[in-house]
Amino acid sequence: MKELRKVLVSRAQLESRVKELGAAISRDYEGKELVLIGILKGAAVFMADLMREISFPVAIDYMSVSSYGSSSTTSGVITIKQDINTDIRGKHVLLVEDLIDTGLTLQHLGQLFALREAASVSICTILSKPSRRLADIPIDYCGIEIPDEFVVGYGLDYAEQYRNLPEVWIVETEEQQ
Ligand code: XMP
Ligand code: MG
Repeated sequence: MKELRKVLVSRAQLESRVKELGAAISRDYEGKELVLIGILKGAAVFMADLMREISFPVAIDYMSVSSYGSSSTTSGVITIKQDINTDIRGKHVLLVEDLIDTGLTLQHLGQLFALREAASVSICTILSKPSRRLADIPIDYCGIEIPDEFVVGYGLDYAEQYRNLPEVWIVETEEQQ
């Protein structure tokens, strides 16, 4: 079992940032056909909150991807474990992520949806670790920038645990013990 060290982002901070992101997305996509695509499992909690802050009807779908490497790093080689079943051709796609770290996962998915002929592909994440970035991807809607600490809660896990914490916590990892 890993120890939770401290709350990094409170419930209130998450709530107010999600409202702001929802308002910005509502303004930008008004009158357009928007499909939100949540990246499982981490983005499930954020997706549920974000979609309810959007002021017009949107379609939603989910996909699951995995990257080779350890559970806490990304290699950049992405495999799709579960794909969407929505026809997104000609529609505006917003990829919804829990956390952007190296950016390699989202770089790959952005290219994939461009190939699938989406009208546009944008990225929304609730958390970002800018100091870890390897791929220079534009993050159209960025929630909260955090330092390079391993975090759990609000959908994020350590070994599948802690996704249900309502706040974002810093967790002690093996390397730190
Ligand atoms: P990229 O491709 O941007 O991958 O490097 C982002 C994915 O890496 C995982 N990740 C974390 N998961 N706590 C987690 O629970 C963390 O601190 C963390 N940092 C990266 C996460 O799955 C994210 O979607
Ligand atoms: Mg994860």
